[in-house]
Amino acid sequence: MRPHVVAQVAVSLDATTSGFDADQARFYALATLWQEDVTLVGADTILAQETAVRSAPHPGPRPEGPLLAVVDSRARVREWEGLRQLGYWSDVLALYADQTPDRPPDSTIPELVTGYDRVDLVEILDILGDRGARVVRVDSGGGLLGALLDLELVDELALLVHPVVVGSGRPWFEGRALTLEPAGTEVFEGGLVWLRFCVGRS
Ligand SMILES: NC(=O)c1ccc[n+]([C@@H]2O[C@H](COP(=O)([O-])OP(=O)(O)OC[C@H]3O[C@@H](n4cnc5c(N)ncnc54)[C@H](OP(=O)(O)O)[C@@H]3O)[C@@H](O)[C@H]2O)c1
Repeated sequence: MRPHVVAQVAVSLDATTSGFDADQARFYALATLWQEDVTLVGADTILAQETAVRSAPHPGPRPEGPLLAVVDSRARVREWEGLRQLGYWSDVLALYADQTPDRPPDSTIPELVTGYDRVDLVEILDILGDRGARVVRVDSGGGLLGALLDLELVDELALLVHPVVVGSGRPWFEGRALTLEPAGTEVFEGGLVWLRFCVGRS
């Protein structure tokens, strides 16, 4: 069965996902609500953190933690071992397509190949569900989230709205019209607002 897919995004008042200091502590504290089995992340989100991953403490995999699955059709991510050792995830899984460039022959990174030139997101979620995942949390700046929204694969959306106007950048919804059913609102110190929605299907 396909897992429940939730996406949480830190956004500015003008709906951008970067260009401001997101409250990471609050963001990840709230994200623990879902106790996801799989954290689904796009390659660009990982690449934006690679320097931080390299210099962070590496206590080792957390067996009870979720699996980190990275959509990486072009095999751009390099810090797999650092990600695995970060102490949050139990393991990593590279999501590749048929046309993904060759990996080093001695690579030990577990991988799953779907799609021709790009990872097939529908098939990925079906396979993760078959492997026992019940909840997948998407951590995306908008690229991967947009693709999942287009495919109507997102069940729940949470926006952590920061009281800042960036004044430039692309909105997380990128011109999409969405039907959202409110599922809860909380206000936190510093003017942060957490909005949760169920995402409607067409
Ligand atoms: N505010 C937040 O909550 C938040 C959260 C995470 C990240 N961020 C920030 O957002 C930025 C990165 O976000 P992003 O939106 O550029 O990238 P992203 O969310 O990491 O998504 C890009 C990835 O999605 C893949 N993808 C997109 N459409 C696809 C499709 N139809 N089929 C298969 N794969 C598809 C891309 O594949 P290809 O490789 O084939 O292009 C790429 O790997 C960084 O600056 C990061 O710091 C913000």
